[in-house]
Amino acid sequence: MRHLTSRAHAKVNLHLGVGDLREDGFHDLVTVFQSLSLADTVTLDIDDEERVASGSIVGALGVSGLDAASVPTDASNLAWRAVDKLVDHYRAHHGPVDAPRVNIRIHKGIPTAGGMAGGSADAAAALVAAHALLSESHPALPMTTLSELAAELGSDVPFTLRGGTMLGTGRGEQLTPMLSRGTYHWALVFFREGLSTPTVFHEIDELRGGGAVIGPSLHTGELARALMTGDPQQLAGTLANDLQVPAITLRRDIGRTLEAGRQAGALAAIVSGSGPTAAFLCSSELHARDVLDDLLADGRAYSGTTAYGPTRGAHLVD
Ligand code: C5P
Repeated sequence: MRHLTSRAHAKVNLHLGVGDLREDGFHDLVTVFQSLSLADTVTLDIDDEERVASGSIVGALGVSGLDAASVPTDASNLAWRAVDKLVDHYRAHHGPVDAPRVNIRIHKGIPTAGGMAGGSADAAAALVAAHALLSESHPALPMTTLSELAAELGSDVPFTLRGGTMLGTGRGEQLTPMLSRGTYHWALVFFREGLSTPTVFHEIDELRGGGAVIGPSLHTGELARALMTGDPQQLAGTLANDLQVPAITLRRDIGRTLEAGRQAGALAAIVSGSGPTAAFLCSSELHARDVLDDLLADGRAYSGTTAYGPTRGAHLVD
């Protein structure tokens, strides 16, 4: 048995502008993603003795780490689907594929259903590992093809594949790299109970239907300028998330946690993506640790960690 391991990182949306609901059930977005140090790893345990000529090459999937019990371990898991999608692509474009049987092991450092692209990171890491395996015996695929396959798996998968700092348009899958100077430090607070992304998107439609004016926040110029200064104080004033009001409407505890973080001295407090994770921008690693300690000390937060960004996209590790 040999192994291939890859790592993919969480994201925070520094800007998340949500447009109208489209006919395909998605919303048009103008978003700025930044990858954070928090990561999941995906390991393929490869059995070269057993070859699989048709159907899924995945035999089983196991999950350990943060929130592991709430992650599916069957073929619905995004990492499993990513391996199947890549193999199907090779079968469709490069004739018969005789690949080895693999088992997938996921180790989670990113909260599940937390608004930090944890499932998407697993899919991106699985794509990278499976691509390394398949390209041992077949031509390697260009990043554009991997990104297209990633987009079919989920709106955030192309970003977790590429990492860094990117402007995302369309449903979030069309990416343009952005400049970002320096390193930004965060305190992240996790919640016992996750939030479903479709529910939060549905809630913004409901609130807007009832007359609420929420964005759409479409302009990222000031944020882009702040990112080039490398100054977290400047960045703090430019963060925006149209999903914050719907997330807080669904879960009042998020709003209380954001306020507690501001009281604890964070430069800015935002919901990460569709939530519920609360992300607190801080001036340094030490400051982030102080803010987190403050939030955890008096029981105002359930659990959390510090993190920094930007980091890189999905990549193989030794
Ligand atoms: O692409 P992904 O599978 O992550 O999307 C999950 C759900 O989130 C979609 O089915 C849709 O309800 C919602 N969504 C959306 N607009 C986006 C991205 C996601 O409405 N741009």
